[in-house]
Amino acid sequence: MAKRKILIINGPNLNLLHKRDPKIYGNANLEQAKSDCQKLAKELAIEMDFRQSNLEGEIINLIQDAVDKFDGIIINAAAYTHSSIAIRDALEMFNGKKIELHISNVFKREEFRHHSMISAVVDSVICGLGIGGYAIALLAMNNSFDE
Ligand code: DQA
Repeated sequence: MAKRKILIINGPNLNLLHKRDPKIYGNANLEQAKSDCQKLAKELAIEMDFRQSNLEGEIINLIQDAVDKFDGIIINAAAYTHSSIAIRDALEMFNGKKIELHISNVFKREEFRHHSMISAVVDSVICGLGIGGYAIALLAMNNSFDE
């Protein structure tokens, strides 16, 4: 059987995670999340691609290119979560499994972070588990394929 393929997409400012408020995001950087996921993907015998972009259009292109190629998308759309109808529309087209992920607990933060444009078009939402949430999301998605 062909290996399952999961795409992890990260939105704006997550490339500089280590420069953001450690009280909110902890001290880890995105490279750490990437290497944790690479290690787990190997253990699970799945393929995983880990991407980051600061540009809305690039994120949309990643989602569009994943159609019919990936079995699932885990997306931390960062600030675009709260504003991007275009990312939501792209995700709606993707028929595989979808998890929305946030490092911080967005519901403990400013009110404008309480609303997500994309929650309604994904299967699950994970937030507030810190950088460890990436590997947990990957594991949860992999388990969900067998349900
Ligand atoms: C975030 C939460 C968003 O509100 C914020 O704009 C981010 C990161 C998180 O992972 O906690 O950039 O998605």
